[in-house]
Amino acid sequence: MTQTNSSPAAVTDLDFDPYWMPFTHNRYFKQHRPLDRLMASAKGAYYTTVEGQQLFDGLSGLWCCGLGHGDPRITEAVKRQLDVADYVPAFQISSPATFKLAQRIAEQAPGQLNRVFFTNSGSEGVDTALKIALAYHRLRGEASRTRFIGREKAYHGVGFGGISVGGMVANRKMFAPAMLSGVDHLPHTHNPAETAFSRGLPSWGAHLADELERIVALHDASTIAAVIVEPMQGSVGVIPPPQGYLKRLREICSKHGILLIFDEVITGFGRMGSWFGAQAFDVTPDLLVFAKGVNNGTVPMGGVIADQSIYDTFMQGPAHAVELFHGYTYSGHPLAVAAAHATLDILAQDEVPQRFAELGKLLEDGVHSLRGEPNVIDIRNCVGAAAIDLTPLPGQPGLRAVRLFEDALKRGFLVRFTADTIALGPPVISTPTEIHALIEALRASIRAVA
Ligand SMILES: Cc1ncc(COP(=O)(O)O)c(C=O)c1O
Repeated sequence: MTQTNSSPAAVTDLDFDPYWMPFTHNRYFKQHRPLDRLMASAKGAYYTTVEGQQLFDGLSGLWCCGLGHGDPRITEAVKRQLDVADYVPAFQISSPATFKLAQRIAEQAPGQLNRVFFTNSGSEGVDTALKIALAYHRLRGEASRTRFIGREKAYHGVGFGGISVGGMVANRKMFAPAMLSGVDHLPHTHNPAETAFSRGLPSWGAHLADELERIVALHDASTIAAVIVEPMQGSVGVIPPPQGYLKRLREICSKHGILLIFDEVITGFGRMGSWFGAQAFDVTPDLLVFAKGVNNGTVPMGGVIADQSIYDTFMQGPAHAVELFHGYTYSGHPLAVAAAHATLDILAQDEVPQRFAELGKLLEDGVHSLRGEPNVIDIRNCVGAAAIDLTPLPGQPGLRAVRLFEDALKRGFLVRFTADTIALGPPVISTPTEIHALIEALRASIRAVA
């Protein structure tokens, strides 16, 4: 039997070459063989590396483990499920637990968002939402509505749909020839000249939603299927929506019959101080994409919550015929469903959204205390999420953040970097002492890489 042994001795002989790591500088990683980046275990708010070092999980995994790691209520549910049913087909067959999960998610979603389609990731959720939008218009006799409008700096995963509506250039440029045609982009809302060091939602920038009117005037509403935005842009480095911006987008979409899709892969399930960002920002989209927090990252799962009117539009033709030719072998996988039920229990019982709101106040005061530290050019925060922008090293964009990341690891803190931005999204179980320690470690690291 193949043994997996994560002791430092076993790691010494580890062949680093075969694993092509995602979104990683593979050559740098394999050259340095960083043992402080090889995790042996995860528990609560900490990872333990193969060397036995404890690392505070400053981004809740990749924004997905907001409840911390290894909550026994989730792990036990998954273990129990393994003994009950390891897999149930997703097409033409299901289980009561999957129906029940859809019902529970729908109960927490705003408005008439009450029909849930399961996927296995955020990327699949995004592509599913785009396909639903296209098909919806076609079924209503508006097949000319084929364009999608995304936004600069957006991250919507890595499917061809997601990178087409996404707005992070590094994720797009290699694949440009294969991207969806007929996609346009709204301007992003990050303008340090107007918003630097804003606490929470910036007061400047709502007018940028009016750019949608310009795009509509250019292409005509009859050609546009949907607008997709992250309510708070996460992966690019926490860009909260300007006050009033999302409401304005909603109004313009409704006026022109354009569907509004919220990609809530990061903002869903508590981090914004509500179950969904839609409630936190008081704007209800027509389609809502979720993933990550739905089951605390325990088993891959994502999905789309559709407005009932969209679902109803599909329910036509002979009743024995398939209405939407789309789905995944692992849609609603029993292990993911079991983990999600346990996660939803915890979200409700432990009042997780409210506790994220409380954590957010500590995080806000903490990160903004870093203003004035060397090379800090902007700080942003939005409830349970925050980011710090650093001046790039001359001619070497991204390197200062790599160095800071490595320095923070030595201090026992795992954070995330994108270009020269450091992102924070600690788990809700973080104590005030831990948040304080995180901020002070960052302060020391920022000074160390000055
Ligand atoms: C807003 C958003 N959409 C989509 C995705 C893609 O999710 P996944 O990596 O599960 O495909 C992410 C991942 O971070 C995300 O933040």
